[in-house]
Amino acid sequence: MIRVQVPATTANLGPGFDCLGMALELYNIVEMLPTPGGLTIEATGEGASEIQRDGSNLVYQAAQRVFRQVDYHPDGLKLRLINQVPVARGLGSSTAAIVGGVIAANLLAGGRLSLKEIISLASSVEGHPDNIAPAVLGGIVVSVQADGDLKHLKIQPPPGLKCVVAVPDFPLVTKVSRDILPSQVSFQDAVFNVGRVALLVAALQQGDLSMLGTAMEDHLHQSFRSVLVPGLKKVLAAAKLAGARGVTLSGAGPAVIAFTDSNFDLIAQVMGDTFRQNGVKSKVMVLKPSPIGARALEIK
Ligand code: HSE
Repeated sequence: MIRVQVPATTANLGPGFDCLGMALELYNIVEMLPTPGGLTIEATGEGASEIQRDGSNLVYQAAQRVFRQVDYHPDGLKLRLINQVPVARGLGSSTAAIVGGVIAANLLAGGRLSLKEIISLASSVEGHPDNIAPAVLGGIVVSVQADGDLKHLKIQPPPGLKCVVAVPDFPLVTKVSRDILPSQVSFQDAVFNVGRVALLVAALQQGDLSMLGTAMEDHLHQSFRSVLVPGLKKVLAAAKLAGARGVTLSGAGPAVIAFTDSNFDLIAQVMGDTFRQNGVKSKVMVLKPSPIGARALEIK
């Protein structure tokens, strides 16, 4: 039996659309066992009742991609999914499923794929690498597709950094949250984001959290998505007023994530209260960045 643990991830970190992500200390576990025939899927934890129990399951689909690539064909498969990552909330639940499926299948097939191949295959299933790379590698990862290749570099999260995450009680399908984006942006907005993302990477690398207020601003996606997340702008403003160093939509949303090294309880309270005042129930969590990525807990 193979047991793999994969962290939740937050993508974009504000201006780093499709190229920046960070792993969080909240985990999904995938257990994979070859069986004599057929497919059995058990799921417990977050979103268990919504998880597909047939061949359309994302963990299974990702595993099949590996089996085809390495020409390994188990008779049947039993999957047990133990989930902590909220589903379709902007915290990398689909990434955790894909990465869990790919890594478990690769181990079952004898570990023939390299780390680079694992990240590339998982990114091709997801469509973009910004959640996948930190889910595999841990920490903060910058990743870019270039000439059919994936370039990535990891930054260790700054000491003392924690995230206050407000998770609304409604899901937001990533496709919907991407379809609302414009096909073109102004030169001015592109320049705005280029400066912020460069400042953000430098600030994270140097552990200078005082820069995050400016460095996590975005003009490429967040305002377009605010129509899908009631109260978003007010929650962002309230978290900053309560002392957050920086705050942004997490991935494609609807979760909102504040980066801070103090005032955790106050920030959590105002984020939850502000969502509530805008008619949205939410669950608020304080999470540390996960310096480690996906790992095998058991191989036998
Ligand atoms: N970068 C992606 C987005 C993350 O914002 O759409 C969500 O998958």
